[in-house]
Amino acid sequence: NSASSGGNGARGLWSSRLAFILAATGSAVGLGNVWKFPYVTGENGGGAFVLVYLLCIAIIGIPIMMAEVFIGRNGRHNPITSFRLVAERNLASPGWRLSAIVGMLAAFIILSFYSVIGGWAASYVGHAAAGDFTGGDADSIGALFGGLLGSPLQLLGWHTLFMALVVLVVSRGLKGGLERAVTILMPALFILLLLVVGYATTTGHFGEAVSFLFNPDFGALTVNGVLVALGHAFFTLSLGMAIMMAYGSYLGTDVNIGRTAISVAIMDTVVALLAGLAIFPVVFANGLEAGAGPGLIFQTLPLAFGAMPMGSVFGTLFFVLLLFAAWTSGISLLEPVVEWVEEKTTLGRTGSAVLAGGACWALGIVSILSLNVWSDVTPLGMFAAFEGKTIFDLLDYFTANIMLPLSGLLTAVFVGWFVAKESLQGDLDLRGGGFSLWYNLIRFVTPVAVLIVFIYNLTA
Ligand code: PHE
Ligand code: NA
Repeated sequence: NSASSGGNGARGLWSSRLAFILAATGSAVGLGNVWKFPYVTGENGGGAFVLVYLLCIAIIGIPIMMAEVFIGRNGRHNPITSFRLVAERNLASPGWRLSAIVGMLAAFIILSFYSVIGGWAASYVGHAAAGDFTGGDADSIGALFGGLLGSPLQLLGWHTLFMALVVLVVSRGLKGGLERAVTILMPALFILLLLVVGYATTTGHFGEAVSFLFNPDFGALTVNGVLVALGHAFFTLSLGMAIMMAYGSYLGTDVNIGRTAISVAIMDTVVALLAGLAIFPVVFANGLEAGAGPGLIFQTLPLAFGAMPMGSVFGTLFFVLLLFAAWTSGISLLEPVVEWVEEKTTLGRTGSAVLAGGACWALGIVSILSLNVWSDVTPLGMFAAFEGKTIFDLLDYFTANIMLPLSGLLTAVFVGWFVAKESLQGDLDLRGGGFSLWYNLIRFVTPVAVLIVFIYNLTA
């Protein structure tokens, strides 16, 4: 069809397949890899969980990513318009664009609090470099973290800095902004990660970490663990947020969507496993708890960095890595929204980026206050399921457990059942039995799996 066979007019295209892979990997690699994956693996018993997670990436994550990139490239507009155009071409209801609306709204909300956490990473770069962890104990390091969370002004400062970094890149557009940022940040991120893994091998507990991550103990696996693995597969690949549609809208037609999506998923997985290999040796060497939960990175690790030789150097490298990972993800969360504002208004790229980023920054203040002044405000506290949840918790909960799976489910059903098979075959360009495998996964397996997690999360 004409829209996907030609160039991309004034919108521009990624200059290479690699540029797209770096940008998509930049989105995928984030706090989910460096912060969440290690601790959920720790909480769910290690190797067996990792195995299930890999399976979820393969049968749920990769097929949905292909579907999202397909819609973006086929529609060549912002995610909502792209969805509508693809639906019209296939004589389906334009109402399917609800998937992109939900996804973009989720991206906007997620960025508002992701930026606050990105701000923590920025602040920890400063602490690590200043040697603030050196010789610290659980109390002093806990106090450091508590001090940050308890201070609305400090949080606001770091949140503002992080959002400004994101807006700066996005306002410069595809080539001068996004592409330039990821070609510097992604290689830097890999080098930093390898340095920290290298450091971890000197702790004397590397082997323990390897066996923790790779020796499956199926006894430690629970039904809950399987569902966590599925949900995380979604989050870690940045699916259900219209991101891959926005990035796909700039993808050249000569690029094989199937192979490219697989590359991105592999890179994301490699980073998650490397992050595990960077973190667990340090955890074990210091007798820390592997299942320490969300505090693992901001409370547990600084303890270790403070006690180890060269700890402030490697602590600084680690938090710079975390900041870069969060930055490229933040960029990807703003891009779909900016693409939309830019196409719907006359503000231009910079104006759209400042408007969308500014609105998102303002919403972020709600999350900041939830951590201190409003920490007792629990708007849905009258329902048992939401007891004790602050506004920040609720934003996280509704986006991760409802909006993302809903958007992903609609995308899978739409692409699997309402788009002409020939159009998919041509665009995905999967060889051998690859296409039928993907087609069966996206029609049957993916929607059922997402539906199961969705329902489970609603009832849990
Ligand atoms: N995929 C990112 C991660 O693993 C998380 C993310 C979600 C990034 C949404 C961007 C958008 O951390
Ligand atoms: Na990820």
